Amino acid sequence: MRRKLIAANWKMYKTPEGAREFAAAFLPLVKNVHHAEIVVCPPFVCLPAMVEALHGTRIGVGGQNMLWENEGAYTGEISPGMLRAVGCSHVIIGHSERRQYFGETDDTVNRKLRSALAAGLQPIVCVGEVLQEREAGLTEEVLARQCNIAFSEISTLEAAPLIVAYEPVWAIGTGKTATPEMAADAHRVLRAEAAKAFGDERAANLRILYGGSVKPENAKALMSEREIDGALVGGGSLDPKSFATIVAAGDF
Ligand code: PGA
Repeated sequence: MRRKLIAANWKMYKTPEGAREFAAAFLPLVKNVHHAEIVVCPPFVCLPAMVEALHGTRIGVGGQNMLWENEGAYTGEISPGMLRAVGCSHVIIGHSERRQYFGETDDTVNRKLRSALAAGLQPIVCVGEVLQEREAGLTEEVLARQCNIAFSEISTLEAAPLIVAYEPVWAIGTGKTATPEMAADAHRVLRAEAAKAFGDERAANLRILYGGSVKPENAKALMSEREIDGALVGGGSLDPKSFATIVAAGDF
């Protein structure tokens, strides 16, 4: 039985003050939630405020990115050790916006993943096809390649905290969502890749989230699909009520 996980990816929205306001409004709405784990990934500058505002709750805080090195002359970068030091439990790795605008490759995703695991962070690794790839019938091939490279040189034991998010790029921020069936098909491909890398047992326990225009209106249909173990939510996570409704939709 895989526990649902619902993660907020705020992208480049909100200041520390906005993060505190969010927490004050959100916490009362989810105080009775036991069915799912909740993680919020705000911008770096909001992390200390978020950790403080969520102190004593079971809600985790995560970074949206990191470099694989722990320190050094890397202007503008943040290390896994720094994320740990401010109280992060999770980190998003390989988000499609990082791949699309900031030159991330399957190889850098692998380096980041290994480094996050070594630092004791729970990585949420994002994979997904672009529209042309889906239309050309290449979805399975793309997902297999992304996983194959991301998961290389990681042992089954090391992979224990790993979480994967399937985020079809054409569904991110576009209002278009994959149908629950489409997402479930992709999740089966990802689980099969995880089985090749880490064995059947680890793959069976692997949580695979769906991301891409998850909203209060579609969250239940998506999360009631057996293959979908939760959601990575962008735009729908910025408003406390909207995100709390999505969290509640994972309960059945
Ligand atoms: P969206 O973003 O929910 O705004 O589509 C999801 C994501 O990019 O993680």
